[in-house]
Amino acid sequence: MLLTVDHVTKTYPGGPPVLQGATLSMSAGETIALTGESGSGKSTLLHLIAALDRFDAGEIAVDGISLSALDDHGRAAVRRDRVAVVFQQFNLIPTLTVGQNLSFHARLANRLDPGWVDEIASRLGLQDLLARYPENLSGGQQQRVAIGRAMAVRPKLLLADEPTGNLDETTAGAVLDLMLDLVRTSGTALLLVTHSQAVAARLDRHAHLAGGRVT
Ligand SMILES: Nc1ncnc2c1ncn2[C@@H]1O[C@H](COP(=O)(O)OP(=O)(O)OP(=O)(O)O)[C@@H](O)[C@H]1O
Ligand SMILES: [Mg+2]
Repeated sequence: MLLTVDHVTKTYPGGPPVLQGATLSMSAGETIALTGESGSGKSTLLHLIAALDRFDAGEIAVDGISLSALDDHGRAAVRRDRVAVVFQQFNLIPTLTVGQNLSFHARLANRLDPGWVDEIASRLGLQDLLARYPENLSGGQQQRVAIGRAMAVRPKLLLADEPTGNLDETTAGAVLDLMLDLVRTSGTALLLVTHSQAVAARLDRHAHLAGGRVT
């Protein structure tokens, strides 16, 4: 298994439990649509899988590596080498141009492939925006840069938090085509949060988060 989430619980300080035994597994090359009401814990689950935050109990293993056993250095290595995230709030680096943002993660991971970054830029319709800064982009353009940056590393596991939420249907379709190409060519596993039935219908499986558990 490329990803196993085993009875994970998470409660933020002072709040009610968010995850209460969430369990999920994925093989390489598999695609899952994750749905659930607003506030059900979808982003929380993605952040835990990406080793950006710590869970309270249970276990998450990415590519055979158990996250609970890792120190900060080990967690940073998992983020750098195995996982890429398309954040719901994009998290672009404001002081870097579009072109620099697209290459940033891949460069850090020492896996920069300029030809692949060019293809991503062109298929996401970003080739005329490469010299701009994120603050001068529309929401949908920023979202496409966030998607491209995550895909540029060809991660083993791509976590995408409502990646087509700000895009029209045609652009959303093109973005999904590109992600599914990556899945086919690189064996990337894709866990994608979406509210769109049309998007979910194109993925292998559907997981639903409610009451802190995945069904
Ligand atoms: N950093 C945080 N500190 C405290 N509470 C948080 C934090 N992040 C999320 N929460 C709370 O955890 C719960 C789950 O939030 P989360 O963002 O995971 O939901 P979501 O399913 O992604 O929702 P949406 O569809 O609106 O994006 C919510 O009640 C939220 O208020
Ligand atoms: Mg969310």
